[in-house]
Amino acid sequence: MSNRQSKGNRQSEGSPRPTGNRRQVIPLDLGPDSYDITVSYGLRERLGDELSSWNNGQRWVVLSQPQILQHYQGVVDGLQNSGINLGVIEVPGDESAKNIAVAEKVWSEMVEMGCDRSSILLALGGGVVGDLGGFVAATYMRGITIIQVPTTLLAMIDSAIGGKTAVNLAAGKNLVGAIHQPGAVIIDPGFLATLPRRNVVSSLAEAVKYGFIRDRSIFDIFESRFEQLLELRDQALLTEIIVKSCRIKSRIVANDQFENGERRLLNYGHTIGHAFETLRDYGGLYHGEAVLFGMKCANYISHKKGLLSSQQYLSAQAVLDRFPLPELGQLSPQQVLDVVQHDKKNVNGKLNFILLEGIGNAVVSTDVSSDDIVDSLSVVNR
Ligand SMILES: NC(=O)c1ccc[n+]([C@@H]2O[C@H](COP(=O)([O-])OP(=O)(O)OC[C@H]3O[C@@H](n4cnc5c(N)ncnc54)[C@H](O)[C@@H]3O)[C@@H](O)[C@H]2O)c1
Repeated sequence: MSNRQSKGNRQSEGSPRPTGNRRQVIPLDLGPDSYDITVSYGLRERLGDELSSWNNGQRWVVLSQPQILQHYQGVVDGLQNSGINLGVIEVPGDESAKNIAVAEKVWSEMVEMGCDRSSILLALGGGVVGDLGGFVAATYMRGITIIQVPTTLLAMIDSAIGGKTAVNLAAGKNLVGAIHQPGAVIIDPGFLATLPRRNVVSSLAEAVKYGFIRDRSIFDIFESRFEQLLELRDQALLTEIIVKSCRIKSRIVANDQFENGERRLLNYGHTIGHAFETLRDYGGLYHGEAVLFGMKCANYISHKKGLLSSQQYLSAQAVLDRFPLPELGQLSPQQVLDVVQHDKKNVNGKLNFILLEGIGNAVVSTDVSSDDIVDSLSVVNR
C-alpha cells in the first residue's frame, strides 16, 4: 500500500515562482514508500485538517522538545481539537536526545500511552527530533508511521526528507540507525520566526549546496538576492528556496534511496566540513558553517583539477564569502587528514570526494589526494 494517503493539490516541476502561502506539494516517488512534501506558510495552524486523512482514531504521539513546545503548544492543542487522540513526549532540547537511552525511554512511554502498530509518531522539531523520532518509529513494534513536521530550516530542506534516521554513539554521530521513510512531510516556514537567526543562516548552507550540485538557479538566487535572503523576511523568496531545495533532495532520494550513487553528491562540502566540525568539537561551529568552509575547500580542489573554470570558481567563492562565518582558526593539516580518513562515508578505505564540474553539476571523484586536501586549507586557514 502506498504511504501517500493525501495527494493534495499536486504542483508540477517547473511551476511558476511560488508565493509564501500557496500550498505546494512535492511528490517523492519511492514506489510503495512514496510520500508528499507539502509546503506553505500557515500549515501549522491547520495541521489537524492537513492530517485528517491519516487519522482513524488510533493513538498518536507527538515527539518534541521544550524549546519548541514553549512556542508551539498551540499546534498540539489544535491537533487535539481536531479529534486526534494524542500524547506528547518531550526529549532533551539538544543533540543528547539522539541517544539509545532516550529512544528506550520513548519506546516505554509509548507502550504506557497505549501505542500499537497502527499508531503514528509525529516529529515536531528539527533534525534531532526528526532523526530520533524516525529511529523510534522504524523500530517500535517493528515499524510504525512517522510524519515529519520540521521546525528548523535544516530539517525542512534536508533531514526530514529521505528517511535517514539515527542515534549517536560515544564513538561518533549517527552510527546506529535505519532508513525509514516518513508517511508525509509537512513544512510551514513560519516556524522559522522563533529560531535563532544564526541557526537559520547556517542552514542556508544546505540550500546553496543544492545550487552547487544540481540547480544553477538556486545559486543564481544566492548571487543576485543574497541580502534579501539573509534577512529572512521575504516569505516568497524563502518559500522558493525551500521548495527548490526539497525538489532536488526528493529527486536525488527517489533515484538513490540507499546512497549507492547519486545521493553521495549530497556530501559535497561535507567531507572536509565534517573534519572542521569534529576538530572544533561540535558546538563551536554550526554544522552549516562547517559545510560552508568545506565547500570552499571542495571548490578550490575542483578548480585546481581543472573541473571548475576560473570564472565559475571566483563567483562560487564570492557567494560563499558573503555568509557571516565565525573564525575557523588555525587547524593542523594532519588532524584534518586524520578525520577525513576516518569518515564513515569512506568505503573500503577509499575516499569518495564530491567535486564540481561547473556550478550546478557535482561529480564523485576518487582522485583527491592528501596533498589536494592540505592545499585546499589555504582558502579557510587565514
Ligand atoms: N537525517 C538526515 O538526513 C540528517 C541530515 C542533516 C542533519 N541531520 C541531523 O540534524 C541534527 C541537527 O538538526 P537541526 O540543525 O535542525 O538542529 P536541532 O534539531 O538540534 O534544533 C536546534 C535547536 O533549536 C530548537 N528549535 C527547533 N525548532 C525551533 C523553532 N522553530 N523555534 C525555536 N527553537 C527551535 C531545538 O529545540 C534545538 O534546541 C543533527 O543531529 C544532524 O545529525 C540529519
